Amino acid sequence: MADIERTLSIIKPDATAVPGAAGEILARFERAGLRIVAMKRIQLTEDLARGFYAVHKERPFYGELVAFMTSGPVVVSVLEGPNAIQAHRDLLGPTNSTEAPKGTIRGDFGTDIEKNATHGSDAPETAKVEISYFFNASEILAPVEALV
Ligand code: RTP
Ligand code: MG
Repeated sequence: MADIERTLSIIKPDATAVPGAAGEILARFERAGLRIVAMKRIQLTEDLARGFYAVHKERPFYGELVAFMTSGPVVVSVLEGPNAIQAHRDLLGPTNSTEAPKGTIRGDFGTDIEKNATHGSDAPETAKVEISYFFNASEILAPVEALV
């Protein structure tokens, strides 16, 4: 049986700027069997964005990425389900929206390699760190019992 995992999703400012897009993206998560166990719509401060992307701080695109991520509200959620980390990334498609097939979230809502509509954790260890970066334990729903 597939592992029940949790992953962090961010709907980025390019997507929250389009009326209805965030709702459609969340609907896709739910229709794919991912349960939303925590969610908030917030404006990232520069410090929060810098800290979240600290792993990229030596990359040439870091400054631009922080500016983009603070350019408008984001919707941050925790998704739970079987193989949630990979299942979520499959829904997003490749990082570069111009290479993402239609039908994927980045293919349908993203613009380029930076403005790609969404973030998804890439491994169990990073998911754990990213979830606790945004949510206290009391803000996250209890797990659903795994089906037998
Ligand atoms: P994410 O972390 O957001 O799920 O995306 P990812 O793993 O597919 O991509 P990653 O390499 O971790 O990059 C993080 C975010 O930085 C922006 N980016 N800009 N200008 C550029 O060349 C460039 N490359 C990446 C994107 O917004 C990417 O999602
Ligand atoms: Mg990444």
